[in-house]
Amino acid sequence: MNRLDGKVALITGGARGNGGATAELFVQAGATVVITDVLDDGGAETADRLGETCSFAHHDVTSEDAWLGLVEKTLGRHGQIDVLVNNAGIFQHGGVLDTAREDWDRMIAVNQTGVFLGMQAVAPTMRDAETGSIVNISSVAGMKSAAIAHAYAASKWAVRGMTKSAAAELAKYGVRVNSVHPGYIETPMLTQVSGPDDSRLVRQVPLGRLGTPADVGRLVLFLASDDSSYCSGHEYVVDGAMIS
Ligand SMILES: NC(=O)c1ccc[n+]([C@@H]2O[C@H](COP(=O)([O-])OP(=O)(O)OC[C@H]3O[C@@H](n4cnc5c(N)ncnc54)[C@H](O)[C@@H]3O)[C@@H](O)[C@H]2O)c1
Repeated sequence: MNRLDGKVALITGGARGNGGATAELFVQAGATVVITDVLDDGGAETADRLGETCSFAHHDVTSEDAWLGLVEKTLGRHGQIDVLVNNAGIFQHGGVLDTAREDWDRMIAVNQTGVFLGMQAVAPTMRDAETGSIVNISSVAGMKSAAIAHAYAASKWAVRGMTKSAAAELAKYGVRVNSVHPGYIETPMLTQVSGPDDSRLVRQVPLGRLGTPADVGRLVLFLASDDSSYCSGHEYVVDGAMIS
């Protein structure tokens, strides 16, 4: 039996990168997957590539109305939502001295408020079903300092705390909530962090290589599946021992 047979999963930011790889692993594990993104072309291409058990919906995680519409449409089409992966995110350089207010607001809106709205929109159906797994994608920047990215680190620390609070609140309904903390993973976002030469980043990783989106996806799959049935409220780091 596949690890996600019979389960319906929503993955935000699923057009590419970590979200796209997670969607692929979920489909292979037997799930029905809805990927969402603001990138329409990339989202539709990924869903087409993954086959008939994967579909794409345009969705901006910062919009409460968009979340309510997405949940209604998904329940109408598939009848249930068993897994939510709050993966959509943005990155921007800037310390506390030079982060503009509008950049701060945008970062918090996508990386933090998007996760809040997602949990708030999906948790009621999981509560009623008395089962569900929510996986919130944070970062190693939510485990330690990040002098180059003040707003990003703030948003990722917030996701870590929100995960623990939601896990404690929702446990009595059989709903699990965990956070995943990737290190340096080869995605379009990492190019923003490193620039064209990633050798400086590789030198910081004891395992001697950057992570792949599938490295992250396999951990998310574990947390989404019943294999992690007694895991909730915790942080799971996937970083090649970088912050060990
Ligand atoms: N790549 C890394 O090294 C790394 C490290 C730690 C954490 N992460 C986290 O992993 C997650 C995925 O990032 P990635 O590395 O795959 O980057 P990515 O840029 O390839 O993917 C992020 C996706 O989120 C989507 N997105 C952005 N704003 C959105 C919005 N408002 N609504 C819906 N979708 C939106 C983007 O269009 C994109 O498809 C993010 O939360 C990121 O912070 C990545």
